[in-house]
Amino acid sequence: MSDAQRSSESAPVLEIRNATKLFGPVRALNGVNLELGHRQVLGLLGDNGAGKSTLIKAITGVHQLTSGEMLIDGKPVHFKSPTDAREYGIEAVYQDLALFDNLGIVNNLYLGNELTRPRRFRALGWLDRKAMEKDARRRLETLQVHLPSFSASVGLMSGGQRQAVAVARAVAFASKVLILDEPTAALGLRETRNVLNTIKELPEKYDISVILISHNMDHVVEVCDRAVIMRQGGVVGQLEPTEETMAEMVSLIVGATKQEV
Ligand SMILES: Nc1ncnc2c1ncn2[C@@H]1O[C@H](COP(=O)(O)OP(=O)(O)O)[C@@H](O)[C@H]1O
Ligand SMILES: [Mg+2]
Repeated sequence: MSDAQRSSESAPVLEIRNATKLFGPVRALNGVNLELGHRQVLGLLGDNGAGKSTLIKAITGVHQLTSGEMLIDGKPVHFKSPTDAREYGIEAVYQDLALFDNLGIVNNLYLGNELTRPRRFRALGWLDRKAMEKDARRRLETLQVHLPSFSASVGLMSGGQRQAVAVARAVAFASKVLILDEPTAALGLRETRNVLNTIKELPEKYDISVILISHNMDHVVEVCDRAVIMRQGGVVGQLEPTEETMAEMVSLIVGATKQEV
């Protein structure tokens, strides 16, 4: 093994350096640094407007950074679109769900992904689609998502069902990094439990790292190895989420000093 290979294996899966994003006069990201380790489940926390969604959309190529760097396995990358991010095995479920309302579940699962096959399926050639479908169905079953029918248009489904499809789609196709922006916000108790259990088993089972955006501190404590707290476009703290650090997380989110709590 060469030194270069060795260093790329010890590098974080994903690293963001000094990321800035301006929307006209709005500074949505202001010098963000972030590291995501191998098989790590990272909680990304912050109040509304903190910059969480902007950060993950920069990671997935929906937005381009105004300045700053992004590295995958220690190598600089520039994603011009979500297709570029998918090439690297990065999948996301956005807060504002991006589903195709006029299409059914299966087509929603494969759209986009049929063009950019996850690496582990590439060697399969023309069998790709079948293998992908089998794998996706298996993961859908793991999530125990109860759907009216596989052929129903997504536009006719409830918010929770739509969210479940979006989560299943991302889980099925992520091969390196899975990003979930408030994935359980519209889900019922049982679906929420399934999503949390899936997040917990993904790293070991599929060698995947996860970024989870959530306002639910119990969920963060349960599934995340580390929490990064953002405020006003910057990272204001990082800690290990436990019952004991919950109060600290909340005060970092709202911007209170310890004396004020
Ligand atoms: N497409 C956009 N155009 C203009 N401003 C935006 C856009 N997206 C986000 N913002 C602004 O960037 C800031 C961060 O937003 P966002 O990343 O959505 O925060 P969060 O997800 O933490 O609630 C907010 O002030 C928001 O209004
Ligand atoms: Mg958001």
